[in-house]
Amino acid sequence: MLRQIVYISTAAGIDSAAIASILESCRRNNAERAVTGLLLYNGRNFLQLLEGNVEDLSWVLHRIEADPRHNGVSIIEDIAVEERACPDWLMRHIRIADDVSARRDALDAELPQDIDPSLRRIILNFASLN
Ligand SMILES: Cc1cc2nc3c(=O)[nH]c(=O)nc-3n(C[C@H](O)[C@H](O)[C@H](O)COP(=O)(O)O)c2cc1C
Repeated sequence: MLRQIVYISTAAGIDSAAIASILESCRRNNAERAVTGLLLYNGRNFLQLLEGNVEDLSWVLHRIEADPRHNGVSIIEDIAVEERACPDWLMRHIRIADDVSARRDALDAELPQDIDPSLRRIILNFASLN
């Protein structure tokens, strides 16, 4: 059965090299585990959407939770879904626009079309925060 999990975590000063290294791990492990999703970083917090079957998600999540590059991993959504919202994204890093007024619209356009409306709202609200 397919699930989507969204968590937020806290991490100060993650630079683009660290993001690149996280995405490299994602390409390696998520492909093997058939986990897909997206990742946002706002300078203080991560938000990640992970989708896959329960066993694969829990394998990936255990690694993520043990990662010292962030802490306070809190799952804010965990829902059963019929289909993936991001089937083609092993892990897509979505950048949050600097321009606050343009931010929501830019992100809204970049999020997958089929994403659950409540998840879309959570992600847009997260991006408005800092
Ligand atoms: C915010 C954040 C998100 C991450 N997301 C994933 C992920 O989706 N898949 C993954 O394999 N590793 C992810 N990682 C990295 C893991 O915590 C861990 O470093 C990695 O799985 C180690 O695998 P490797 O030895 O193959 O690089 C993430 C780390 C952070 C800080």
